[in-house]
Amino acid sequence: MNAWPEEKVFKDPVHKYIYVQEPVIWDLINTREFQRLRRIRQLGTSYFTFHGAEHSRFSHSLGVYEITRKIISQFERNRFEDWPEEERLLCLCAALLHDVGHGPFSHSIETVFGEHHEEWTCRIVQGDTEVNRVLRSVDPSFPDRVASVICKTYPKEIVVSLVSSQLDADRMDYLLRDAYCTGVNYGMFDLERILRVLRPYREQIVVKESGMHAVEDYLMSRYQMYWQVYFHPVTRSSEIVLRNIFTRAKQLYEEGRSFRFLPDPLRRLFEGALDTEHYLMLDEALAQTAFAMWMNEPDPVLSDLCRRFLQRKLFKYATPAELNDELLDRLRESIRREGYDPAYYLQVDFPKDLSYDVYRSGSSTHRKPIYLLKRDGSLVEISEVSDIVRSISGTQSGKHHIYMPEPMLTPGSPFITAETEAWLKGE
Ligand code: NI
Repeated sequence: MNAWPEEKVFKDPVHKYIYVQEPVIWDLINTREFQRLRRIRQLGTSYFTFHGAEHSRFSHSLGVYEITRKIISQFERNRFEDWPEEERLLCLCAALLHDVGHGPFSHSIETVFGEHHEEWTCRIVQGDTEVNRVLRSVDPSFPDRVASVICKTYPKEIVVSLVSSQLDADRMDYLLRDAYCTGVNYGMFDLERILRVLRPYREQIVVKESGMHAVEDYLMSRYQMYWQVYFHPVTRSSEIVLRNIFTRAKQLYEEGRSFRFLPDPLRRLFEGALDTEHYLMLDEALAQTAFAMWMNEPDPVLSDLCRRFLQRKLFKYATPAELNDELLDRLRESIRREGYDPAYYLQVDFPKDLSYDVYRSGSSTHRKPIYLLKRDGSLVEISEVSDIVRSISGTQSGKHHIYMPEPMLTPGSPFITAETEAWLKGE
């Protein structure tokens, strides 16, 4: 371990400064596994829609650490009895490392190949890695404890809820950071105010009653970011093209086609035989290099999809008034007539994704509702007393979008009959 002369700081656009006060945190940041997060974007392909969205999981992870540090400091300053002070370092390490297992364009890779970033996080924390060695220097059982906080199985629920709940350090950082980097101002909320009104209460973290409006503001910001950023149709389109690249490449590999360019980590990904060593080599730089090289592969579908992705020739979308099999059959037929495979050039998308729900008032296993702490010491769930929260919570209804290459969706296009076009427009 390094000598520790004094506190270190990182300059940060969201939190101004990030303070590192423990040598263990500094050493974790300097591991090769954590430094790899610089090469993975926090928002995947959102940079196609919002060009500022180039921020990395590295900066987000430091931000989650900093918010956790501030919450704990507030608890310690006020000497709240329900806060287990001995868990400080454990919380800070779990906050810092909660996303260390993310791969390039995580959601697409998870969908196509069934890899899960949570599992990789645990493998990196508990396996033969630099992160593991730093954690073991605290205590031989420390890596397992950090992994159990991240996997939400740690017995002290209050520790888990700090890093993972409906009002946790993870969500608070990514909302502010994503709003800042995309330039979407209505994603902002008053973090300082929320940090002041959080209270440890028995086995959970609750909000002082007077902080209700600050939490409403935070949930409104979630609501805005959900619709304006996370489910932006152009971003969805880029994700569809990306997913189809991986699906096509995997299919070609399984059919025994040889690739002119296929680095080991991708080959192992196709085979379902990734080990930690190769997983760590898989970053967005490698994936994008592969796409650039695959533009020259003989398979026309793979090369076309890679060109579309790198040159931002994404699919366009239409929002049909009513989606049914007849309309889809017609579209498939039009696409086939033009020599395209509908499996790769037609996609129906419906915006739903559990990781981005706005707020749920019901209790699920690990995402408890947000409780307000009243003066008499009782708790009330926030949607029972806030009209704003009640109106935005629950499942969000969205519209189906149909994604296809542009010429096929242009008005008057020869690919689509007048009748189908009118149908797409909802006329
Ligand atoms: Ni995160």
